[in-house]
Amino acid sequence: MNEAIRPGSENVRQTMGLPTLSIVVPTFNERDNVAKLYRKLEAVLGEVAWEVVFVDDNSPDGTWSIVRDLARQDGRVRCVRRVGRRGLSGACIEGILASSAPYAAVMDADLQHDEAQLPKMLSLLTSGQAELVVGSRYVEGGSADSFDSKRAGFSVFATSIAKRVLGVGIADPMSGFFMIRRDRFEELAPKLSTQGFKILLDVVATAHGELKTVEVPFTFGSRLHGESKLDSMVALDFLGLVLAKFTNDVVSLRFLLFAMVGGTGLVVHLGTLFIALEVLGWPFPEAQAAGAFVAMTSNFILNNFLTYRDQRLKGFAILGGLLAFYLVCSVGLFANVGVAFSVYDQEPIWWLAGAAGALMGVVWNYAMSGLFVWRKR
Ligand code: GDD
Ligand code: MN
Repeated sequence: MNEAIRPGSENVRQTMGLPTLSIVVPTFNERDNVAKLYRKLEAVLGEVAWEVVFVDDNSPDGTWSIVRDLARQDGRVRCVRRVGRRGLSGACIEGILASSAPYAAVMDADLQHDEAQLPKMLSLLTSGQAELVVGSRYVEGGSADSFDSKRAGFSVFATSIAKRVLGVGIADPMSGFFMIRRDRFEELAPKLSTQGFKILLDVVATAHGELKTVEVPFTFGSRLHGESKLDSMVALDFLGLVLAKFTNDVVSLRFLLFAMVGGTGLVVHLGTLFIALEVLGWPFPEAQAAGAFVAMTSNFILNNFLTYRDQRLKGFAILGGLLAFYLVCSVGLFANVGVAFSVYDQEPIWWLAGAAGALMGVVWNYAMSGLFVWRKR
């Protein structure tokens, strides 16, 4: 093959109009911001061959249709409309993987990230000085003045935890603004979590210090239109990520939450049993059955709101899910008792047998619930 037309060579990229830089913008209800961001990119990127990939999770405000209109006028604009899914990190990952440009940037749609930094970030990558460039609020010259004090406090606190627990070496691992070599990202992608918000932290923690990283300061601006999608659950997302990375993906936050909900189920069970026996005067077998029934129901509700909130069942699906959950837990009870018996048979230590049975039960319930109740669509 002629050297000059070897795929991927810079000459070919330029003559065929292939992008060098792909800017990935996750969006959810950003209809008033996307066109403005597009114009800013156009103004600031000048000579660079770029494209922008908006990844929209089927926004109710129709952001995706605005992006489609833009894309019909300018081939550099692309729209990935995802249905049945939500999540900032997952959207960014899919956006980067949808591109074949050698460099990919991630930024918010709401103009809080300073697009004027993009050329400098790109030149740090093309010159080989860095494989990852982070737009940082916490290095000299950067700032996050637009944060209220509560959020600023949490951000600083979370950053220090991430640094200590995960040994992350950069000043602003929570930033949502960065640029990376796509080949390096591609290596890491299968190990990244698609849940949550903290994609950069995930990238840096997963790379274990193997990415040559440079931080450039920028001022985190105020949101133009619309409102932030980060709610109080980001704290939970963050803890989940730290836990998963710290234990090398052995323990997930989901499993811990599931087990904790199981613990509340025990309390609910005993409470119901007490009321049925002492207040209602039911016979023991009926009271015990009622306790199990109420506990399973409350476990289901809690899991649906907490453990599986990103895949929450709604409407009619709740009923089907609840029935499947009863079934899963009933079989789990047999597994629990079976294991407890066989342990007790070999080693008649009541607490060891009981704990082994309970562990078996929770692992079973967790695995089967993931398959049959809150299965990924
Ligand atoms: N596709 C998709 N799906 N996009 C989403 C989702 C989602 O579920 N949730 C949020 N987005 C988009 C928003 O539309 C926006 O363009 C961008 O992701 C960031 O969301 P914001 O709601 O604007 O977040 P923020 O400004 O409060 O937080 C930013 O700063 C944090 C630093 O403290 C983000 O950049 C965070 O990633 C960053 O950690
Ligand atoms: Mn924002």
